[in-house]
Amino acid sequence: MAMDAFEIKGGRPLSGEVTISGSKNAALPIMAAALLTREKCVIHHVPDLSDVRFMVEILKSLGARVEFDGDTVVIEAAQIREFGDYELIRKMRASICILGPLMGRLGRARVSLPGGCIIGARPIDLHLKGLRALGAKFVIRGGYVVGTGSHLGGAEVFLGGRVGPTVLGTGNIMMAASLADGVTVIESAACEPEVVDLANFLNAMGARVEGAGSPTVTITGVKQLHGAEHTVIPDRIEAATFAVAAAVTRGSLTIKGARPDHLGAVLDKLREAGVKVGRRGQDIVVERSRNRLKPVDITTQPYAGFPTDVQAQMMVLMLLVPGISVITERIFEARFMHVPELCRLGAEILIEGPTAIVKGGRPLSGAPIMASDLRASAALVLAGLAAEGETVVKRVYHLDRGYQRMDEKLRRLGARIERVPE
Ligand code: EPZ
Repeated sequence: MAMDAFEIKGGRPLSGEVTISGSKNAALPIMAAALLTREKCVIHHVPDLSDVRFMVEILKSLGARVEFDGDTVVIEAAQIREFGDYELIRKMRASICILGPLMGRLGRARVSLPGGCIIGARPIDLHLKGLRALGAKFVIRGGYVVGTGSHLGGAEVFLGGRVGPTVLGTGNIMMAASLADGVTVIESAACEPEVVDLANFLNAMGARVEGAGSPTVTITGVKQLHGAEHTVIPDRIEAATFAVAAAVTRGSLTIKGARPDHLGAVLDKLREAGVKVGRRGQDIVVERSRNRLKPVDITTQPYAGFPTDVQAQMMVLMLLVPGISVITERIFEARFMHVPELCRLGAEILIEGPTAIVKGGRPLSGAPIMASDLRASAALVLAGLAAEGETVVKRVYHLDRGYQRMDEKLRRLGARIERVPE
């Protein structure tokens, strides 16, 4: 694989307007949901990302016809098989979201067991528990999850896990239950906006999903689903990342086409830190402020709490604020991969179990650093924008999985950032 790096010359405030792309984490399960019908589905506002390209290939390997043009994906899954390309499915954790649709439509599935990943173990026990409650049977054979179950039936399913609800697990059960006989009630469902977007798409296909966005989701199974057209919600994590980028560079930014109502916890923390951030319709506006910022404590939680996917970026802001802030990661156990890299820029951060103690206010100075996972990479880019001198962020393919042309978007806002071969 050709690898790219970003060369960043820090110290320049961002200013201008940036437009937010469609949500990766909404688009991936919605694309998988198109497997539930033989008819054509048209999905708009899909971000052009490597994870989305993977999902296109996975759907094709299952027999679907897929076209990706501009930001529209057209999927026609007239005939599908239960077994996709192992190598493809292995590469992306989100490929687990084909399990629910395959079990719902075919009553069988064979998907590779997602391996451990850098941000933690990421088990799928809750996905299997939920589908088993609907009558599916699973065995693990040769690294695959092999599911059988002929036709599924509605059931009551409690999906609360060790650390709370599961986002993709809730999606999988909603998708499978849409074609099951009878009524399924999910208790302790994930309430993330991406779950609501999936429910809206399923309902546009003729499903009967009620209560999405709350902890109790009721799905009344239907005989079959039909084709539908849908526009994916904006990416709240991309929007949050740009808002934090504005704050760390002491810039001013209009973040267009975001959904400020999906970002309550993030905007609240930014305000608590002293960042001037407001909303104008669907835009988020960060104003340049000369105020001294204050340290804030953050604990990641399921929605509507502070998102784990913005924890790393927010840590960079806290590095720039004099004082101590305490950042606690409650969703994934190993999501501090950015910390040693930030320390290479001069940061002082102490990790104690799930908590990072950030001693802010020391100047950051540019250095070569290495991206490890998607959101950690975004944090390193923000740190590079704030640091003095030149920072080289290596392995930005992690970033390209989830941010559509982030370097171009930042350059248009005045950042000095170049993509170079590593
Ligand atoms: C989704 O992952 C997102 N991915 C993640 O975004 C996000 O960080 C995460 O939700 C939490 O918001 C996609 O939507 C593609 P979970 P998901 O199941 O659904 C444990 C990004 O950077 N768990 O809600 O896989 C799990 O280990 C990514 O864009 C079980 O124990 O996350 C974790 O501790 C990274 N058993 C917690 O639940 C299970 O069966 C929440 O995970 C499933 C999960």
